[in-house]
Amino acid sequence: MSESLLELRNVSIRYRTGRGHVSAVEDVSLQVPTGASIGLVGESGSGKSTLALALMRLLPQNAEVTGEMIFAGENLVTKTESQLSKGWRWRKLAMVFQKSLAAMSPVHRIGQQMEDVLTIHEPHLTKPEREQRLHDVLTSVRLPNRVLRAYPFELSGGMMQRSMIALGLLCNPPFLIFDEATTALDVITQTQILKEIERLKAEYNLTTIVISHDVGVINAVTDTVAVLYAGQLMEVAPRETFFSNPQHPYSQALISSVPRLRGEKTRLAGIPGSLPDLTNPPQGCRFAPRCPHATEGCLAVTPPLVEVAPGHLVRCTDIPLREVVA
Ligand SMILES: Nc1ncnc2c1ncn2[C@@H]1O[C@H](COP(=O)(O)OP(=O)(O)O)[C@@H](O)[C@H]1O
Ligand code: SF4
Ligand SMILES: [Mg+2]
Repeated sequence: MSESLLELRNVSIRYRTGRGHVSAVEDVSLQVPTGASIGLVGESGSGKSTLALALMRLLPQNAEVTGEMIFAGENLVTKTESQLSKGWRWRKLAMVFQKSLAAMSPVHRIGQQMEDVLTIHEPHLTKPEREQRLHDVLTSVRLPNRVLRAYPFELSGGMMQRSMIALGLLCNPPFLIFDEATTALDVITQTQILKEIERLKAEYNLTTIVISHDVGVINAVTDTVAVLYAGQLMEVAPRETFFSNPQHPYSQALISSVPRLRGEKTRLAGIPGSLPDLTNPPQGCRFAPRCPHATEGCLAVTPPLVEVAPGHLVRCTDIPLREVVA
């Protein structure tokens, strides 16, 4: 791995709502080296999609972003829409959306939608070149050419997801975000798609952020794990370290809530409670209301993200920490 393709510096994102400001992402700093595959994990509502949409600059109007998102040396936050649509979005950064069916137009054939993307973002291509590109990308995701004539509702969940991955790869971006790319799929199809993602990363030389609420998915396709809870990064660690020696109580709870297929049967721990109200986040550690190790001190100040070992960062005042719970 080499220098960072993407660097997030103190990124905060909030939504204006009738109930006040939702603090969806809070002071996130993260390096994504070229060739890396970062797994962004956290339960639903922790800010994963918000962060991904911010990178694509596709957040709704009521969102406000502060901080810097440096991609290939340039700050995405300050780019104009016209700069982004000419040469950045889809060509440098692309995304496989969480709800694939909703992300495509239901009234246009898949092929037409893909060709439109190419016409807009790579206008120099001739019609035969566009057709060749569509054929190549479908072959890459193991879809037959007839998919091009289909409407989204005519495809199975797995085929639809492959089509969305094809769309993401269409303009050969160096960087691709997968947002819950396998969540809606049955277990067998999920396993197939995860294998495809692994293969495509190498084939297209991709740097990726893989988003999931499921640590099993993260374990399958990433090399570094970043845990987001209530908008804050709680732990960042190399994948092996994260699974063998998770330090943050939330990471430990996430890992111990996954059923094991092998070894002795253990009780699933689960995580009692729910995410805090992000219009009024708790003082101090945002995980404190659910943390079994919380003390008075945890409620007083927000713990900083501290490097406890090279490449291993933890946001918890209780360091050095306890035995692994999993
Ligand atoms: N358009 C929006 N307006 C207001 N709040 C939003 C909007 N989109 C998301 N949120 C809130 O932002 C927080 C993070 O949501 P999201 O990024 O979708 O989380 P995740 O992808 O981790 O499930 C949640 O509290 C969610 O309700
Ligand atoms: S700072 Fe305190 S409440 Fe927060 S995770 Fe650590 S021990 Fe738990
Ligand atoms: Mg999401």
